[in-house]
Amino acid sequence: MILRILVYLLIFSYGWVVVARTNPTDLTALRSLKTQWKNTPPNWRIKHDPCDQKWEGIFCNKSRVIKIILPGTNLAGPLPKDISLLSELQTLDLSNNRGLTGPLPSNIGNLKNLVDLSVLVACNFSGPIPESIGSLTKLIHLFLNSNKFNGSIPHSIGNLANLVWLDLSDNQLEGHLPVSNSTTTGLDMLLKAKHFHLGQNKFSGAISPKLFSSNMDLMHFILNENQLNGSIPDTLGLVRTLEVIRLDKNFFSGSVPRNLSKLTGVTELYLANNYLSGAIPDFTGMNLQYLDLSNNSFDPTTIPLWFQTLPNLTTIMMEKTRLEGHVPVALFSLPQLQTLLLRNNQLNGTVEISANISSSLHLIDLRNNFIDGFSSSVDSKDLIMIDDNPLCRKPEATQICNTVQPSNISIFPDCASVGCFVDSKLPSDCKRLYLGYLIFRTFSFSNLENNSNYLFLRNDLQPFLVSHGVPLKRVCLVSSTMDINGYLVLSISFFPHGDTYFNRTGISTIGNVLNNQIFNSPYGPYFFRDMSYNSFPAAEGSKSIGFIIGVTMCSFMLVVLTTTAGVYAYRQRKIAQRAAKSNNPFSSWNEGEVPQVKGARWFSFEDVKRCTNNFSHESEIGVGGYGKVYKGKLESGDLVAIKRAQLGSLQGALEFKTEIELLSRVHHKNVVNLVGFCYDKGEQMLIYEYVPNGSLREALSGKSGIQLNWTKRLKIALGAARGLAYLHELADPPIIHRDIKSDNILLGERLNAKVADFGLSTLLSDDGAQFTTQVKGTLGYLDPEYYMTQILTEKSDVYSFGVVMLELVTGRFPLEKNKYIVRLVREELKETGNVFSLVDPAMHSESDILSGTEEFVKLAMRCLEDIGDDRPSMSEVVKEIEKMIEAINLNFDVESITTSASYGGVRDSGYPYSSNNNVSFDIIGSGPVVR
Ligand SMILES: *[C@@H]1O[C@H](CO)[C@@H](O)[C@H](O)[C@H]1NC(C)=O
Ligand SMILES: *[C@@H]1O[C@H](CO)[C@@H](O)[C@H](O)[C@H]1NC(C)=O
Repeated sequence: MILRILVYLLIFSYGWVVVARTNPTDLTALRSLKTQWKNTPPNWRIKHDPCDQKWEGIFCNKSRVIKIILPGTNLAGPLPKDISLLSELQTLDLSNNRGLTGPLPSNIGNLKNLVDLSVLVACNFSGPIPESIGSLTKLIHLFLNSNKFNGSIPHSIGNLANLVWLDLSDNQLEGHLPVSNSTTTGLDMLLKAKHFHLGQNKFSGAISPKLFSSNMDLMHFILNENQLNGSIPDTLGLVRTLEVIRLDKNFFSGSVPRNLSKLTGVTELYLANNYLSGAIPDFTGMNLQYLDLSNNSFDPTTIPLWFQTLPNLTTIMMEKTRLEGHVPVALFSLPQLQTLLLRNNQLNGTVEISANISSSLHLIDLRNNFIDGFSSSVDSKDLIMIDDNPLCRKPEATQICNTVQPSNISIFPDCASVGCFVDSKLPSDCKRLYLGYLIFRTFSFSNLENNSNYLFLRNDLQPFLVSHGVPLKRVCLVSSTMDINGYLVLSISFFPHGDTYFNRTGISTIGNVLNNQIFNSPYGPYFFRDMSYNSFPAAEGSKSIGFIIGVTMCSFMLVVLTTTAGVYAYRQRKIAQRAAKSNNPFSSWNEGEVPQVKGARWFSFEDVKRCTNNFSHESEIGVGGYGKVYKGKLESGDLVAIKRAQLGSLQGALEFKTEIELLSRVHHKNVVNLVGFCYDKGEQMLIYEYVPNGSLREALSGKSGIQLNWTKRLKIALGAARGLAYLHELADPPIIHRDIKSDNILLGERLNAKVADFGLSTLLSDDGAQFTTQVKGTLGYLDPEYYMTQILTEKSDVYSFGVVMLELVTGRFPLEKNKYIVRLVREELKETGNVFSLVDPAMHSESDILSGTEEFVKLAMRCLEDIGDDRPSMSEVVKEIEKMIEAINLNFDVESITTSASYGGVRDSGYPYSSNNNVSFDIIGSGPVVR
């Protein structure tokens, strides 16, 4: 008995003395997290008490865990059931942890004190949203966006009477939007909710009129990209608090309810891409800033005059809305107007631009109408697009017709040229950076180039984060894009102080502050996706996992499509300037004493002249961005291909030296071998082995007379993959190719693939860190992740290789008549589950084709994942292709296959610089080059 009391006393006093010792139940829960998750913070030691010794990311009130805040810390694993033991938990923020998978445990409803639940943004949770979510009645924020949740929204959600934010966007949710009836609850009961963000799901059916009432507090109603049909309920007009309505990309039909114009608080209205009909309503009296009515079936009408009553309009999008008659002059004088999109209508008459034109105007797109006259009293050439109008048939109109597609990405050299983004800086600086995207589903402006729109980043966000304890030196905008969803995507880099790295707390704080909207942006709500930060101080006893870049973003594919070359020109000029400045390290070079260049011979200008027959026209085999390519014959009798840089595209001597040092170290049968170089008499030439059967592109297009059956294509893919895997993983130092495309895969004697053209290559640093550098590459092959962030990894090559794989299957160009092969295949797969209809007609007669292609396309699609982290490595690709070849019982030794008999008239074109229309950007060239 006494002993018992003693024991009680002991336990009791222990509890008393160490006040902050974690409650045993909470401790069980946390230990369960620790064992189930990978990459937990290093100070999560079982021996240490979480509350008392402050496990990183765990916040306690006395002995109870009240917050778990660990966004962006690379956690991986499932959310264990035991999480429900944390009965005092108020905040659970696990955003931006791509490794978190599996369902939300069904007992999550036990977390009765939960106020903020954010498991959003590129976590990979799946399964249905548990019915028990309805028990979390204290919940204010529910962020489940950008996961893989499926099933329907549980009716129980209607019990969350305190909910202010509901974000379920970008999942695979389906079914009706639930509303209450006599037996169940529904979304209509969420009277405190200000935000319904439900876009990018598969919701279907009609929206019940019961969803809306005048009691609601709703500000943002966002439903873009679903499969909703029926008419837009006129009860929507009852919700006077609304500010943003996005219903675009659905199947809504019928007319737009007239009473929408009573919603005087609405600033952004998106109704585009539906089947809306009837008259376009009169929006007089609204406070609209951004209006998108494009692609609907409205009654034909002239441009409404009520536009003139909306002085704050910045953006009018009325593409393909059956507008007719002339364009009123006054439209251009709306004081805030930035973008006016009226293309694909039946507008006629003369377009007049008066001196009264708004100074904010950025773009007037009138393409494809019936306009036959144009007059302007100001210089408006740079802001008007008027191609495909009768006007353009007049010779005097060539001045204003033939415009280039405007860019939908703005890159800010100011940031891009700071610190990490300069070539010469050490990659370790880059590793210290944290990158991410602020994504706005709606925003009120459309001129992406106007810097004033982003001042809040430096003036507000930066000090705000610092005040929350983030050791931040600088917030910097890398690029601003409108993505294919019409979202504004700001690519941001966060620089830590001094020479430090961010720790988990710093990263988590940034994620938490942003994703929980603790920071208010001037454009309303946003969300934040990051690129995983892999430079945390390593855990004791575990080696640093190296630098793996993972961008957590989706669907930026088409960014690449619609971009002009303009942004590059600036960069290329800079390269040229830098190059011009460098010293000449060759000045003392003589034949025989070339440092560090093994295996590559030095040629004098005379040597080269001789072997190309004085650079004769006959020996010319191609022309590239930086000059011509000649075929030559050495004294030994060996054939070579000589890349001769033309004036104006010479590299700095240092760059040239670096390049040949790099190239001379590369030896692999699937990589074009550098034989030598010439740096003499002001000339720069690279001399390669001659590859006789031209490029893969030429073979695919039938130009070179080579027939490629499926097995040959598989072998070419394998060879090229091996070459690339060698460059990434075995070359010393490793090399990122940067411009993988079918033009750069050459075919040898026995159609063995050889990867060519390292003019754009970048060395990897010793520890495998990525380089940030100028975006280079070829449209159609460019990795969107690289494009947005300006950060290059070997996964960018993997992406381009995926495009080549699709070329091999389909025989198509990556970009054909504005159709992007990746998108085409993706849509076809989604619709029919296969790509049979896209298979190259040249292979139609083959019987073995169907078995092999399916896996091949699947592999290609993995290479084409938006997120670099999700793509396989090249050596994985090699293994997969080897398996496919084994499976169809081929002898996969490429070298042993003799196919030369079937070649037929092979054209003498050993180098890939002649045959396509792709725009390419060369390091040696002085700007974008149309080949
Ligand atoms: C322009 O179109 C309107 C409406 O279709 C038509 O009434 C008018 O005659 C046309 N004007 C000219 C100059 O073609
Ligand atoms: C840029 O935006 C600011 C603020 O919105 C505006 O005052 C300014 O006129 C804009 N500049 C241009 C060139 O449109």
